[in-house]
Amino acid sequence: MIDLRSDTATKPTSEMRAAMAAAEVGDEQQREDPTVNELQRRAAELLGQEAALFLPTATMANQIALKILTRPGCLLIAEERTHVLIYEAGGPAVHSGLVMRGLPGVAGRLAPEQLREIAKTSEDLEPASVVVLENTHRSAGGRVWPVDEFARVVATARDLGLAVHLDGARLLNASVAASVPPAEYGRLADTVTVCFSKGLGCPLGAVLAGSAERIEAAWQGKFLFGGAMRQAGIVAAAALYALDHHVERLAEDHRRARRLAEGLAAAGLPVDPNTVETNFVGVDVGSMGIDAAEARERIASEGVLVGALRPGVLRVATYLGISDEDVGRAVEAIPRALGVQSPIRTAAPRAR
Ligand SMILES: Cc1ncc(COP(=O)(O)O)c(C=O)c1O
Repeated sequence: MIDLRSDTATKPTSEMRAAMAAAEVGDEQQREDPTVNELQRRAAELLGQEAALFLPTATMANQIALKILTRPGCLLIAEERTHVLIYEAGGPAVHSGLVMRGLPGVAGRLAPEQLREIAKTSEDLEPASVVVLENTHRSAGGRVWPVDEFARVVATARDLGLAVHLDGARLLNASVAASVPPAEYGRLADTVTVCFSKGLGCPLGAVLAGSAERIEAAWQGKFLFGGAMRQAGIVAAAALYALDHHVERLAEDHRRARRLAEGLAAAGLPVDPNTVETNFVGVDVGSMGIDAAEARERIASEGVLVGALRPGVLRVATYLGISDEDVGRAVEAIPRALGVQSPIRTAAPRAR
């Protein structure tokens, strides 16, 4: 089975496992784990911020960020399919008492005017309200914010007195795709999440970066949310290994996703290769009149697992662990399962 559901299916390589086995460890919640401390130092530098905090998941990093940036009753403004709005179990409302306002975006991106419009029409725009920007944007198909456009929206948010959290769970994909250092995006936001368990080979782990003062406050959140760990260096070692060895190779995942998109589009599937900027390909099976769950089952019966990008649209993801050969097989199997013939297929169609 070729698993293209999500880049979270990434697994540690033997070299990463060796680095984990050799890690020096200590009590992380006492700030005594040297490997965690080193990862936090590296992550802060990478993201153009003063400090960073190691956490088990990106969801926890996002939720702690929202908690420290806001007060109950404030607004959280984000593009309507942003992860914090739809995949974090209502956390911003539950944990931080935020009122969530989702706005339609283009490729997952908000425009400055949309923030100004909210400011005009919201009597409840408290000073400690927050805008969450996601880069890459998961549900838009791993789309990348051009850094200038990102800077313009952040500047507008600042004008309006809003805090800015960057959910950069896949910021390293964005950075590689745009050839922009992660710090160029990271330094503009108040807080930044980066996740290591997406396409980078790590079993788990994320960081939250921000000013020294904010990260000190985030330590409180780490205890409050139950994310203060003990000998966590064994996992932080995987993240350090990934930063050294698995970031530049993300370009290979992007190239493979592009090849997948071109192959699927050439086979006649509703896929737009021009929208494939990183490691996700969207297949709009809804437009073919095929139910997404049924499409996934049919594709699975051909030996390929695919996921869901948004309603009616499948996600086909590449990551560390997916080879050119896997892509070649998927380009044949997916059209066959959906009843269209891949033109690059040379053998006679199999009886079904
Ligand atoms: C954009 C984005 N943010 C946050 C998360 C949450 O990550 P985690 O599973 O580590 O909590 C995800 C997970 O897929 C994501 O896609």
